[in-house]
Amino acid sequence: MKKIGLMGCGTVADYGHIPVLQSTDGLELHAVFEPNPERLRQMQEKHGIALGFTDEKAFFESGIDAISITSPAPCHLANIRSACKYGKHVLCEKPLGMSVEECTEIIELAKKANVMLFTGFDYRFSPASLKIYELIREGAIGELKSLRLIYIWNCHGKGSFDENGKWVENERRKGRMLEGGPMVDCGVHQIDLARFWTGSEVVSWSEAGAWVDEYEAPDHMYLHMEHANGAHSMVEMSYSYCHTCQNPINLFTYDLIGTKGIIRYDRGAKLFEMRNDKGLFTFDYSPEKNFKALYVHYRDALEQGGSELLPTGVDGLMAVKISRQAVDRLMANRH
Ligand SMILES: NC(=O)c1ccc[n+]([C@@H]2O[C@H](COP(=O)([O-])OP(=O)(O)OC[C@H]3O[C@@H](n4cnc5c(N)ncnc54)[C@H](O)[C@@H]3O)[C@@H](O)[C@H]2O)c1
Repeated sequence: MKKIGLMGCGTVADYGHIPVLQSTDGLELHAVFEPNPERLRQMQEKHGIALGFTDEKAFFESGIDAISITSPAPCHLANIRSACKYGKHVLCEKPLGMSVEECTEIIELAKKANVMLFTGFDYRFSPASLKIYELIREGAIGELKSLRLIYIWNCHGKGSFDENGKWVENERRKGRMLEGGPMVDCGVHQIDLARFWTGSEVVSWSEAGAWVDEYEAPDHMYLHMEHANGAHSMVEMSYSYCHTCQNPINLFTYDLIGTKGIIRYDRGAKLFEMRNDKGLFTFDYSPEKNFKALYVHYRDALEQGGSELLPTGVDGLMAVKISRQAVDRLMANRH
């Protein structure tokens, strides 16, 4: 049984990480760290967690084998620095860091401390993603030439009126926009999927953006990546698609085009299919997130000392490098 300590008891910990850590064979959610005492108390009560700390030293010395980081991105470097000091293996939520420099420092710290470092790109582990990975490797659509990955939504909306009729901005969306916007926050998943499915490094990229809302970062973005094997990936991300609408909708799709066929995945239509020279094949639809499988792989990595499929620190770094540089270039060249 591996004893996991979790850092940051916020939204994704509440609905994703904590329930999965408490229900995965071979893993035990041993302790949590959360700097906000009231939030810590609420989450311990809600999930029945015996050990909770606002003090980092006490948390790291509570008997944990490894940690999972679910704090906001600006805290990841400091959290990982502490984990390395105490020699604990790390699974860190995306984005790994706020910049290439931070991610590079994180990777160096882990290497020096001899701890395993993984980035929590859970989308890799959805049944659809793993099936796509398998189909590509079997050559079911021939040589993969082109990918189109789209996620346009409103990131829970611009805001709403409170009970007194006062307009209140959505602080979550605002925070994500200040951290770099949809390509840095969400698009890193799609960048990782493109690298994972093609099995080929991104060698160059270009971008275009729109400022539908009033932040410094573009809130609707297009990224075009060229892979070393000649494949091309296009990622479109938005946090402003219906951001002020009463009846918002979103679009989440994967399209993969190979020399012998195509694969389509569409969240809205609950569709997952392949069309090739042998016919039309439909597969079970399942949502993109899969924290359960992420943790099964983390458990196996902790037991076996490594993993073939878990995204590494370098995978985290590459997603930050591509997304951050694309956003920074757009902000610098905005007319
Ligand atoms: N993989 C996914 O599908 C997915 C989904 C949502 C969020 N995320 C990522 O998960 C991370 C957390 O997102 P969230 O939406 O839960 O954020 P959140 O703001 O809801 O929660 C973060 C929690 O961390 C706590 N915290 C603050 N400073 C801390 C520190 N120094 N150390 C530890 N904890 C600290 C906060 O008090 C808060 O309780 C982000 O990196 C985000 O990008 C991933």
